[in-house]
Amino acid sequence: MDVISVIRTKRDKGELSPEQIDWVIDAYTRGEVADEQMSALAMAILLNGMNRVEIARWTAAMINSGERMNFAQLSRPTADKHSTGGVGDKITLPLAPIVAACGAAVPQLSGRGLGHTGGTLDKLESIPGWRALLSNEEMFGVLESTGAVICAAGDGLAPADKKLYALRDVTGTVEAIPLIASSIMSKKIAEGTGSLVLDVKVGSGAFMKNIEDARELAATMVGLGTDHGVRTVALLTDMSTPLGLTAGNALEVRESVEVLAGGGPQDVVDLTLALAREMLDAAGLKDADPVKALADGSAMDVWRRMVAAQGGDPDAALPVAREQHVVHASESGVLTTLDAYAVGVAAWRLGAGRARKEDRVQAGAGIELHAKPGDRITAGQRLMTLHTDTPEKFEYALEALNGGVLTAPEGTEFTPNPIVLGR
Ligand code: URA
Repeated sequence: MDVISVIRTKRDKGELSPEQIDWVIDAYTRGEVADEQMSALAMAILLNGMNRVEIARWTAAMINSGERMNFAQLSRPTADKHSTGGVGDKITLPLAPIVAACGAAVPQLSGRGLGHTGGTLDKLESIPGWRALLSNEEMFGVLESTGAVICAAGDGLAPADKKLYALRDVTGTVEAIPLIASSIMSKKIAEGTGSLVLDVKVGSGAFMKNIEDARELAATMVGLGTDHGVRTVALLTDMSTPLGLTAGNALEVRESVEVLAGGGPQDVVDLTLALAREMLDAAGLKDADPVKALADGSAMDVWRRMVAAQGGDPDAALPVAREQHVVHASESGVLTTLDAYAVGVAAWRLGAGRARKEDRVQAGAGIELHAKPGDRITAGQRLMTLHTDTPEKFEYALEALNGGVLTAPEGTEFTPNPIVLGR
């Protein structure tokens, strides 16, 4: 087999054979196919697509590039959630303890943020002492003792995806539905969960900007999961505006703890509970009550034990950025747009995100929102507070927000998008 004929097949809109797919994934993982060759193939796939048979084979080849985990020995059914990524998306933090408190085992192998979207591990690392890197034995130990674990995926899980995702990130080939679906599902299937709920984000802050593309991505992933024996469901959820009132690592941990304490912004609570119900249903725990787990403190108890089991101090003060800058409303009216992408880029520029994998994030950096779309605002009121340790970045962050905040005249009828757009 030679790589140029594989690239030419897809360049000329042909169908890749199972042998071509197995060979190219294996050869790329071993370093026999070069990055520039794989990026040509990824671009050909982005432009010309793959059919269902090709996507299924591509996913299987990525799974087979590494180890498979097995949670069958656990005493509880496993339930997992994956979000396609957004701004202010801290849902995993309150969700995993709630679902664990209801009787499921929740193994959340999570990632770090890159670009304008945040990463669950970066958020949790703002808790003093908390460790993302666990051995397999430690991971199983935390899962058995608390019901939930949120940690970094080991290097052995779908290594082909690790390499390919990093390449796609720097070659403009992330936004291809076959590549996103196979990337996410290869990791989730290799992880060995019994059931999976996908939170497919739609809107400016998401990979999928419109509902049709999001529906296609969701259907492709549900098909892949089901074919591999994983009970898989997808919700399509709004990412036109940030989730909740914070975007940034420690800021989002604080908001998640508020949710676990029975408060927090309504959109975060609503989405957390919607995903919890789907996860419990998929895990066969139909009678479990996530609202009760929040109200009776059992979810908070799991959170505290889970954080402590990974070296974190759940009572420690969270880091606060050295400098703040308040943005005020320039006119009165109804807030119609608070663009998720603009807020995500601004938070990233303040230091909440990283431009390269090896960059460090600032734990306290980010944006606190004081209003959301649909709110009436008065000229001069606080709209948002920017937080950073590097105040020279304020101007750069404010540039990103240009055009991202829009108001309509007072009295204008405006209904914000519902949080769940479809299932
Ligand atoms: N998340 C992933 O894990 N892979 C993608 O391709 C996109 C989002």
